[in-house]
Amino acid sequence: MQKLYIQFSEFEINDNYLSDIERELFKRANDVCQVAYAPYSNFYVGASLLLENELFVTGSNQENSSFPCGICAERVALFSAKSNYPNLKVFKIAITTQTKDFQNINPAAPCGLCRQVLLEYEIKQKHKIEIYLFNKKKVIKFNQATDLLPFYFTEDRLKRK
Ligand code: THU
Repeated sequence: MQKLYIQFSEFEINDNYLSDIERELFKRANDVCQVAYAPYSNFYVGASLLLENELFVTGSNQENSSFPCGICAERVALFSAKSNYPNLKVFKIAITTQTKDFQNINPAAPCGLCRQVLLEYEIKQKHKIEIYLFNKKKVIKFNQATDLLPFYFTEDRLKRK
């Protein structure tokens, strides 16, 4: 039996572990979370990216009465960043959630689709994307997208013979 270990660090948000740029990143994720369009789930998600050149790009989840049309905050932010700044690397992503309807004690982790999207950009850009999941009290930090998605599927599987 082989074992894979996932590495992450966890700290209180008031522990002063955050740099100024990380604080700014969190603020932007919080701000965009407030304006998520989530009338069906009432689960608000905000994602904020730090690109190289100190550029920020944010996104919130966008739902639809035809449920499958909806899209997660992380992918809104990533696709927006990669549409507008295709050549800039993504260095960090911070993700936060808010809801009155559900228990929201721990910071929420990105869904499988968003992990796959993060991973592809991380591999393409050959630079780690640091991932911060946070709420009012706690931060969980992963050093790279591949840590969140072991045994991933990548484009090298699609190379023709
Ligand atoms: N959601 C995100 O925005 N990101 C995730 O990683 C998980 C889920 C959204 C999708 C939907 O609008 C709501 O949260 C409830 O699933």
